[in-house]
Amino acid sequence: MTRQARKIIAATMGLVGLFAIYETIKTLLFPAMSATTSHVVSTLVVGGITVIISRYVVQQQSSLHSELEASNRRLREALTASSRNEILLRSIVESIDEGLVIIDRDSRLLLINDAARRLLQTGTRSGERLAEISRDPGFHRVFANVLTLEDRAEARLEARGLDGAAQNRRILRVQAAPLRMMSGEVEGVVGVISDLSKLEMLERVRQEFLSNVSHELRTPLASIVAFVETLIDGGIEDEENCLRFLNTIHRNTARMQALVNDISELSAIESGSVTLKPTRLPLNSLVSEVFTGLEPRASQFGVWLENRVGAEVELDADRYRLEQILINLIDNAIKFNHPGGRVIVSAEVTDEGRCRMTVKDTWPGIGPEHLTRVFERFYRVDKARSREAGGTGLGLAIVKHLTLAHGGEAFARSEVGVGSEFIISLPLRSLPTAPAAGSLPDHTGSAITRH
Ligand SMILES: Nc1ncnc2c1ncn2[C@@H]1O[C@H](COP(=O)(O)OP(=O)(O)OP(=O)(O)O)[C@@H](O)[C@H]1O
Ligand SMILES: [Mg+2]
Repeated sequence: MTRQARKIIAATMGLVGLFAIYETIKTLLFPAMSATTSHVVSTLVVGGITVIISRYVVQQQSSLHSELEASNRRLREALTASSRNEILLRSIVESIDEGLVIIDRDSRLLLINDAARRLLQTGTRSGERLAEISRDPGFHRVFANVLTLEDRAEARLEARGLDGAAQNRRILRVQAAPLRMMSGEVEGVVGVISDLSKLEMLERVRQEFLSNVSHELRTPLASIVAFVETLIDGGIEDEENCLRFLNTIHRNTARMQALVNDISELSAIESGSVTLKPTRLPLNSLVSEVFTGLEPRASQFGVWLENRVGAEVELDADRYRLEQILINLIDNAIKFNHPGGRVIVSAEVTDEGRCRMTVKDTWPGIGPEHLTRVFERFYRVDKARSREAGGTGLGLAIVKHLTLAHGGEAFARSEVGVGSEFIISLPLRSLPTAPAAGSLPDHTGSAITRH
């Protein structure tokens, strides 16, 4: 029974009591009052009492109603604020790149976001417990350590793809911290998962690159130092050998210069700081110009050059960069070929609106184990032969990145003992936006840059 109801009953009982006292006093003081008068007076008193009680009840009910209204409004406001906060929190949790996993003391999942499901490869089906989202013991150890030690914990995990393939291997970092509620007691664990694969891969590439560069510089430097010392130790007087020593020093410095040029060229292209200035180019005449520049080199190796590009083939490309691609490919096809061999350049326009250029040679071919790697920096099939020819092993890496910058792709086909085909597929029409402004000079014409 409510407080108001109790008050109304008490008020009614009080008024009925007063009426009873009034009736008694009236009978004692006015015994001679006629029954009609007594009835009229009593009816008036009862009517008055009824009016007073009704007014009281109505008053109580309206105050109860407005109190209810106010509390309903407060509840509605609180619900709106809490659902707004929940939506805000949910969108923050879902928008972050890091995976978020929150569990209670019994390892039951309280929250897991999409990034965590993606990183742990659990699919869209989210489990109820931690064990259902990862089977990695290292992952569970981090959460268990936080619960037992009530302190932060961290672990680095190596996860393979669902297919177990090594190329899908991911490096994950799990950072976990205790989840403390109002009381200060540890109620669970908050775990944040980040993907370190890209960072670690970049670090590995950087280290490999540094060790390759220092390795490439060490040999010519050691040779220069040795010959300079020989000259200082009296070799300069030896007229017969002096010029030979100086020629060797010159060859080695030229090699180092080519290496430094190629490295800075490659890093400028890779970082996107090279401006491509595409113009409409007739491919046949461009190949002829490149051939003219490489003719002395071809005759030095006894190799024939053949331009089979149709006169109608035209494409949008940066003239200097396309020449650079052709020079690198044709130079390889000449220097690794045998005397009497041929280098054939051809092109076709595909139905997809691309230009497929092919640089084909007739010797020596590349084995399949090397073919997948020849576009890597510093990769050489025959290291001694390439170095002897003055190569840095960066030519094909430059070709690949220049092709990518044009929105194209570069690949190779080969058969050992028969020859190789290097294929460059470029869009016929350039994309509306070219890569960012470049630091390299604006070269035009049939410049032969590296040989
Ligand atoms: N046409 C080809 N025939 C046979 N082997 C090739 C051919 N083109 C490239 N290669 C192999 O791929 C390796 C990488 O080629 P890349 O052009 O990057 O370097 P390089 O020619 O040795 O040096 P650089 O290009 O700096 O002169 C070469 O060392 C060679 O072993
Ligand atoms: Mg080369």
